[in-house]
Amino acid sequence: HNHIDHATPEAVEEAIAAGDIHPKIPDYEDLQTYLQNVGYKALSSLRKVGDEEDPEEIQQQILDSGLRGLGGAGFPAGRKWGFVRAHDGPRYLAVNGDEGEPGTFKDRYYLERAPHMFLEGMLIAAWAIEAERCYIYMRDEYPAVLHILRTEIAALEAEGIVEEGYIELRRGAGAYICGEESAMIESIEGKRGIPRHRPPYVAEVGLFGRPTLVHNVETLYWVAVVCRKGPEFLTRTEKNGRTGLRSYSVSGRVARPGVYRLPAGSTIRDVIDAAGGMADGHAFKAYQPGGPSSGLLPASLDDVPLDFDTLQPHGSFIGSAAVVVLSDKDSARDAALCMLEFFEDESCGQCTPCRVGCEKAVKLMRAEKWDQPLLTELATCMRDASICGLGQAAPNPFEHVMKHFPDEI
Ligand code: NAI
Ligand code: SF4
Repeated sequence: HNHIDHATPEAVEEAIAAGDIHPKIPDYEDLQTYLQNVGYKALSSLRKVGDEEDPEEIQQQILDSGLRGLGGAGFPAGRKWGFVRAHDGPRYLAVNGDEGEPGTFKDRYYLERAPHMFLEGMLIAAWAIEAERCYIYMRDEYPAVLHILRTEIAALEAEGIVEEGYIELRRGAGAYICGEESAMIESIEGKRGIPRHRPPYVAEVGLFGRPTLVHNVETLYWVAVVCRKGPEFLTRTEKNGRTGLRSYSVSGRVARPGVYRLPAGSTIRDVIDAAGGMADGHAFKAYQPGGPSSGLLPASLDDVPLDFDTLQPHGSFIGSAAVVVLSDKDSARDAALCMLEFFEDESCGQCTPCRVGCEKAVKLMRAEKWDQPLLTELATCMRDASICGLGQAAPNPFEHVMKHFPDEI
């Protein structure tokens, strides 16, 4: 665990050089290797043409690829570009690299291997919306990623691919809520990170009150892939009626936890198979499909494609595809309580249904026998009256336990 409170980036780099802290710097593709592998060709040809039609053409390619926001909400990526461009500049691009959803580590996976695929995607999107500047809001608990980005952004500046200061790297401070896009924007502006009311959406009133394109790291990685290989690269994979690929972060009781890139129509059985099956001595009991806000589903729901929209009938969603597998050795009620304790800790406290609701739910869930009518009433209030997704989705874990694991409560 390499979280370093209050240290400046320079102090962190010095500590790494002195061997005082040891982020394992993986063997990633650096700028020179990326350039040898036709890196930044897509970006430079876009910049060279400079035709007014081009941002729309490239936006159309992104729309044709079906690329959706991979932070978790799945909003069509290309449509966001259109929203932002519809408002007068100056405009900004802000990258959400906070990756706070427990069980999610796919952005880290991509950044520790192919940082320039992400950076090129970011610069293509910035070009398309004519962004004045790009801000990368990065999870501070990823010291290797921060080191890689600092090094490679400096290399891009030295190579003349971006102007000095065009990309600004900001470190988060460990608050889950700062991954909510408007709270992240508040945090970049130097304020306490709390979500704003929507509308207006950040596409209209974002960073410093200007139209802002907010994308997750992985979404931008795929922007570069689509620009290089064409939209078909994503549309040609089909499974169970779903199109494209998903990066599942898989952990829990599986033999080989890790990030697995699989067709978007994969079921939990496919995901467990990819992760080497269940760990020895464990029988599959339940799974969290996309972070704690997606709740807990039983093993019997093993034929549902784990994609955007497909889990809605089960009161769940794929979110950032953080799959956690539970076994017969785990208690669903304990897992749900752990999730609510997390939400109680991480609620920004701005609105009563979430601040008080999470605390009350934790108390009710610690009782030997759950007061189900009261928990149901509380869930309705939290869902209907919370400002942001944290409070709205927080009841999912206990609602799912009441529905699927009644024997435990
Ligand atoms: P959302 O659906 O409200 O918004 C998604 C994106 O679309 C935002 O950028 C929003 O500004 C934009 N948008 C939506 N409607 C718009 C409109 N009418 N006009 C302009 N722009 C519009 O979802 P939200 O709250 O941003 O994200 C929720 C998801 O985040 C959840 O699915 C959750 O799983 C995921 N999440 C991911 C985390 C991670 O570590 N990757 C952490 C916590 C949550
Ligand atoms: Fe803050 Fe929770 Fe309200 Fe979101 S729902 S604004 S996290 S108190």
